Amino acid sequence: MCKKTVVLGVCGGIAAYKALDIVSNLKKKDIDVHVIMTESSSQFVTPLSFQSLSQNMVIYDMFEEPKSFEIQHISLAKKADIMLIAPATANIIGKVANGIADDMLSTTIMATKAKVVFAPAMNTNMYNNVIVQQNIKKLKDLGYEFIEPSSGRLACGDEGKGKLADSKLISEIVSSMLYDKKDLIGKKIIVTAGPTIANIDPVRFITNKSTGKMGYAVAEEARDRGAEVTLISGPSSLSDPFGIETVKVNTNEEMFDEVVSRFEKCDIVVKSAAVADYKPKAYSESKIKKKEAQLTIDFIKDRDILKILGERKSKQILVGFAAESNDLLQNAMDKLKKKNLDYVVANDITRSDTGFASADNLVTILSKNGKLIKLEKMTKRCVARELFNLINGY
Ligand SMILES: Cc1cc2nc3c(=O)[nH]c(=O)nc-3n(C[C@H](O)[C@H](O)[C@H](O)COP(=O)(O)O)c2cc1C
Repeated sequence: MCKKTVVLGVCGGIAAYKALDIVSNLKKKDIDVHVIMTESSSQFVTPLSFQSLSQNMVIYDMFEEPKSFEIQHISLAKKADIMLIAPATANIIGKVANGIADDMLSTTIMATKAKVVFAPAMNTNMYNNVIVQQNIKKLKDLGYEFIEPSSGRLACGDEGKGKLADSKLISEIVSSMLYDKKDLIGKKIIVTAGPTIANIDPVRFITNKSTGKMGYAVAEEARDRGAEVTLISGPSSLSDPFGIETVKVNTNEEMFDEVVSRFEKCDIVVKSAAVADYKPKAYSESKIKKKEAQLTIDFIKDRDILKILGERKSKQILVGFAAESNDLLQNAMDKLKKKNLDYVVANDITRSDTGFASADNLVTILSKNGKLIKLEKMTKRCVARELFNLINGY
């Protein structure tokens, strides 16, 4: 993705300090950020803080001597891939809705052709005020985007809707909007992630080391490329990604039910979950007591969800993952054939710097048409990108 530019408008509200976090999150995603502050916002946070984090001059005075021969509100309006207004006050929303351009921020919003996204933050009575709501509706109808504020205890002590949406969420939404490739629009994709558990008794279960990171990365990549994504996840500490229907399950059986009920209508299934292959032969209704020196539990094979999907598939593209500790390619190829897969992503789980729990993965992707792509060590998100590139024929 070539470098993108976000012009961030910061307005005069208590939440202005949270915009510092937004700048820092966007910069971590290698996005160029230019900040325009309203005059009142400088009562809450200093321009120097934004300048330091964005590594760009902060603009707030429309009539300041220009640093270069550019009319700044026009040049920034053109440079922006997205204009994000966070926090957006009742005032800026009202001004834009009524065509007022009386400072640097409102003038730049008026002059830009880029998508404009407002993240409002204000007292709940202000937010619910019928004039504010009418202004928001008018702007939404005109194609301006809004990131809804959340509810909770506000800075003024009132409870209700009006808190600036989480700054990480705002950054994620904006970077998702900036994503260039939209080649999965109209596709329904199921992604499974994480481990499953097999219960032994009311307090004990067995599981595996999967964290869900790979599957969540696949789901986010598919979402950003425009797909309608359902993520079916075993227990994971990762937070539910925005814009994705996330279904939480525990056992192999629950995972099976959720996948199968959606399978027919979907186009692509990526099964990155590490589903338990075995479960205890008998579940003990009561807690197993500590009596003998040795405890033996018999395990029986559980359902092979991927194999069942392979047998049932019609038009769907089916992708499996093969976590192997030996004979990586041979085992992956066998899995591809045996389970009637279209692609298999093979990873060597003996390495400590990739695979389970790691941010990176080192994989080889095999296709049923005999293609073999050995990828360098890369982030799980990049692996997901390469996978969809391959599925889409690049
Ligand atoms: C302490 C304080 C906190 C404020 N917080 C907010 C707020 O969260 N949201 C809002 O819409 N206005 C808030 N205001 C009012 C705005 O600062 C005021 O409407 C100002 O004109 C907004 O200017 P701007 O939109 O150009 O930044 C606050 C004012 C004060 C004094």
